[in-house]
Amino acid sequence: MRSFVTGTVRDLPKSGIRRFFDIVADMKDVVSLGVGEPDFDTPWHISRTAIAALENGATHYTSNLGTPQLRREIANYLDRRFNARYDWRSEILVTVGVSEALDLVLRAICDPGDEVLYHEPCFVAYPAAVKLARAVPVSVPTYAEESFRLRVEELEKRVTPRTKALLLNFPCNPTGAVLCEENFRELADFAARRDLLLISDEVYSELDYTGAFRSFASMPEIRDRLVLLNGFSKSWAMTGFRLGYACGPREVIDAMMKIHQYGIMSAPTLSQAAGVRAMREGDADVARMREEYRRRRNFLVASLNGMGLETVMPDGAFYVFPSIKSTGLSSEEFALRLLNEHSVAAVPGCAFGECGEGYIRCSYATSMENLKTAVKRIGDFSAALARR
Ligand SMILES: Cc1ncc(COP(=O)(O)O)c(C=O)c1O
Repeated sequence: MRSFVTGTVRDLPKSGIRRFFDIVADMKDVVSLGVGEPDFDTPWHISRTAIAALENGATHYTSNLGTPQLRREIANYLDRRFNARYDWRSEILVTVGVSEALDLVLRAICDPGDEVLYHEPCFVAYPAAVKLARAVPVSVPTYAEESFRLRVEELEKRVTPRTKALLLNFPCNPTGAVLCEENFRELADFAARRDLLLISDEVYSELDYTGAFRSFASMPEIRDRLVLLNGFSKSWAMTGFRLGYACGPREVIDAMMKIHQYGIMSAPTLSQAAGVRAMREGDADVARMREEYRRRRNFLVASLNGMGLETVMPDGAFYVFPSIKSTGLSSEEFALRLLNEHSVAAVPGCAFGECGEGYIRCSYATSMENLKTAVKRIGDFSAALARR
């Protein structure tokens, strides 16, 4: 019998993170620094709002775009936080997480063979999502020595007449990098000069430890070519609610809405009710979780540097990205041996693209107690490697 699966999907590698965590699932006493989701439970008043919505019969579809209440709340939030004005009626689409929004925007704007520029190391879904949109992912390397900033010269080398969009993610998964003001401006200028759509995935926008983060939505000059993606998963610890949104020019949002309408219908109704509550009354929760992440980040970076694993202090998100180059092991070997010999799970940097080789990603979305145990074990492993 012939294979019914398309060549594109057949050739798509499974996520390097998932592959690794299939191994972890069968092991005991592992301290995991692998997960990319908050260890906090969703603040109870937010969950309770979803329960109340259920009790009140909110079990039907909503408008394809999302409930007016949530779209209004998103517009208010963006105005309040980033001084960005979006018309809730036509410029905001509520989605099933940022994941769906990413898929929608790429499918809405890419014709077969169009190219999308993105920076590596990056979120594992980016190259796959571009390929699934029948477009061509074009990666641009970033380096620890430059705090993982994205250089316009590198973009200029790779831009072609087929380039349609520039996909950015700051604060960045896996490096935690946040753009400096200069880099922020030059990337926006580059998108305008090359007539590209700028897709900015700002899902970690609330996890900014230095106040350096600026949303591209705060730049009126690029408003007509910006699609902003954001959501509730990381900021309010709501991964399981599967709730995100896209904001942008009416034409693009309308095109995304068509795909969403036929493929998804509407984002979960109970989650949308919870989202309204999160944005309206969740600032203190965000601040509380951010302070705890900051404490963990400081501890982890100091500990890793102290044991000779060079680690850039990340300004955002909840990951650190230490170099393991001094050990002479590949990132996959390091992560596998750390897991098998010392029961600590971290993700090999190569899962995030070629230039992630030589690094591992450690998430500090886990308790301080777990971090202390992990640091002790990583220290033992590093010391054993140094004695060889
Ligand atoms: C950069 C980035 N974008 C998007 C997502 C997916 O977010 P959501 O849960 O909103 O689909 C993640 C999740 O890890 C992420 O790291």
